[in-house]
Amino acid sequence: MTDQAQIPFLDLSGVNGPLQDDLDLAWKTVFTHGQFVGGPEVGRFEDVFAVFCGTRYAVGVANGTDALEIILRALDIGSGDEVIVPANTFVATVEAVCAVGARPRFVDVMPDTLLVDPRCVAEAINIRTAAVIAVHMFGQMVDVTALLEVTGRHGLALIEDAAQAHGAEFAGRRAGSVGVAAAFSFYPGKNLGAFGDGGAIVSDDLGLIRRMRQLADHGRSTENRHIHLDSGRNSRLDTLQAAVLHAKLDGLVEANENRCAAMRLYRELLPPHCVPVAEHPAATSVTHLAVVQVPDRRSATALLDRHGVGWGIHYPVPCHHQPAFAKFSTGTLPVVEAAADQILSLPMFSTITADMVRDVCSVLNGGGREPG
Ligand SMILES: Cc1ncc(COP(=O)(O)O)c(C=O)c1O
Repeated sequence: MTDQAQIPFLDLSGVNGPLQDDLDLAWKTVFTHGQFVGGPEVGRFEDVFAVFCGTRYAVGVANGTDALEIILRALDIGSGDEVIVPANTFVATVEAVCAVGARPRFVDVMPDTLLVDPRCVAEAINIRTAAVIAVHMFGQMVDVTALLEVTGRHGLALIEDAAQAHGAEFAGRRAGSVGVAAAFSFYPGKNLGAFGDGGAIVSDDLGLIRRMRQLADHGRSTENRHIHLDSGRNSRLDTLQAAVLHAKLDGLVEANENRCAAMRLYRELLPPHCVPVAEHPAATSVTHLAVVQVPDRRSATALLDRHGVGWGIHYPVPCHHQPAFAKFSTGTLPVVEAAADQILSLPMFSTITADMVRDVCSVLNGGGREPG
């Protein structure tokens, strides 16, 4: 590969470009009917997204962070409660717990997948534990079979944070369909991304869904819009975003497959010192991120920089070491802490080509070119 080559960490142009006609039509339709909030596109998207996740219902909300907070509020989780979260999630998971007045209880993850360790969850449960948030990091669902066994034994709610896992599966069950409710983010870089912020909650529980819909719309009664039954909030999915997401949902399975094909190639061609996160045999990942662990990240990133290859770190500072949340730390979490210094996210997006992956691997292998 040449020094001029530029391989971005994320490139959304290839995903959105081919949808130009569908998106133009969506824009014109919404422009014409003028229902920019709560238009028919929102309900239509909610219906197809629920089907995609294998759940009965979905509610569109403003973003994934709100989705988590609204789920927690609808479950009456708040002051005096503890919610178990893996310490290597994006801070939004923790922010949602704090926003309802509960206390995050950080736990460690498995060394190979870097997903929450069900044994650590079991050890962290105490009288104040109200729920466990299973965060499906990097596109892979956590071992929900083992986790449900733990939460079931203790009568605890399992909430899914599926912000990074649209379409992922574990033992034939889709992300979103396992817990009492699940939160999704449609932040532009996600596997299903909007043209701005967006989110959704899915669940099979009609009572819970009604309460969450109410909370997301100023606590408004569904029967009488002038009656406010809860002190809710404004967290609605915009009509235009719903139209965009509906247009993109059709191509999501294929887009996820392309990501997985690229990840398979990474696994084949990466040098031995770049160890990709493992995939559990029962899991079908959607490869939101191509995460590897390297012993010397500074050298690896310097090499990538020199050759114009984009990279990221998800996430360099674990949540229990963040200034905002360190007060909730209950001790060291060896796996999360060791991984924080070694993780590196390589270029990954649904239109990444095999040549790009080969070039990235060639750089990490010391600059040699792949034959052919
Ligand atoms: C694991 C996880 N949870 C929650 C969120 C929050 O989603 P949003 O940015 O839509 O609020 C994100 C988004 O980055 C995420 O990666």
